[in-house]
Amino acid sequence: MRAVRFHSYGTPDVLVVEDAPEPHAGGGSVRIRVHATSVNPIDVLLRAGHLVQFLPLPLPAIPGRDAVGIVDEVGPDVTDTQVGDVVFGLGGISDTTAEFAVLTAWSSVPPGWSTAEAAAAGLASATAAGALEALGDLDGRTLLIEGASGAVGSAAAAFALAAGATVIGTGRESNHPYLEALGVLPTVYGPGLAERVGILAPRGVDAALHSAPSSSLPDLLGIVGDPSRVVTVIDDQGAARLGLRKIDARNDSTLLRYAAALGQEGLYTPRVDHELSLVDIVTAHTLAEEGSGKVVITQP
Ligand SMILES: NC(=O)c1ccc[n+]([C@@H]2O[C@H](COP(=O)([O-])OP(=O)(O)OC[C@H]3O[C@@H](n4cnc5c(N)ncnc54)[C@H](OP(=O)(O)O)[C@@H]3O)[C@@H](O)[C@H]2O)c1
Repeated sequence: MRAVRFHSYGTPDVLVVEDAPEPHAGGGSVRIRVHATSVNPIDVLLRAGHLVQFLPLPLPAIPGRDAVGIVDEVGPDVTDTQVGDVVFGLGGISDTTAEFAVLTAWSSVPPGWSTAEAAAAGLASATAAGALEALGDLDGRTLLIEGASGAVGSAAAAFALAAGATVIGTGRESNHPYLEALGVLPTVYGPGLAERVGILAPRGVDAALHSAPSSSLPDLLGIVGDPSRVVTVIDDQGAARLGLRKIDARNDSTLLRYAAALGQEGLYTPRVDHELSLVDIVTAHTLAEEGSGKVVITQP
């Protein structure tokens, strides 16, 4: 099959399109003919070799953690989908930027989403839903999201708003119209956050989600005042130091079905900023590395 692979860790130009062995569905998994994948920050970190001590990949490796496509093999014990269904979801740590990919968690695609939106939904929505689960009932509460303009943060904002929360979210100023359109009260990140949030939420903030590559975890805890109501999806060391929870994405179909159900109701549309073809994989990873927004890679 045609796949993107890298034979050594390094800059985006280590990525090549070439032939690779086809994977097959094992127990509890499905194989899809991939229509599109998206680039997540972890794909960039893995390709660059920054996680090699914790998550070494057998090389050559295929990047990509999430994908959308049509099911063409169903593994033993799988009863909730069949050959011909279009699903989005999560592979393992890598392996989805290819003609075929094996998914271990999936959901059907809601009718309102484009292929690119479904490709962008997997890891972002599973991470956001898992993180909000840890914060408990948000109905009538005020939630602060650091990184609300990103893929995870915007999914979390949509889910929290659907749950009845008021959401304050940080993002660069050019993303504020996007945040306002979601229903989020926007502010910029960086120094002075507590003062800005205090003006937006004079009665206080009940919970916070840290979903941006920033060192603001102590500020978020200062604003909320209770470590049990602050979670991060990024900062392991900060979480340990401050006695709060770091949440990692679970390959859990329940979380994806929840995201899809909100998609069906028009309450969640995954963020997509760039759509590129598989042959533009080097540009795709370069854009993702620069933090230029969510990149989707479509199969020709
Ligand atoms: N633990 C897990 O399982 C897990 C899973 C998925 C993702 N993550 C992590 O979660 C983070 C977000 O992922 P994503 O896919 O949402 O990435 P993304 O789409 O690139 O979003 C990044 C967000 O961070 C904001 N940001 C960038 N620089 C910032 C800074 N210096 N201070 C404050 N905010 C800043 C961006 O705001 P602007 O664009 O408006 O500047 C944007 O809202 C990444 O670090 C990723 O590694 C963890």
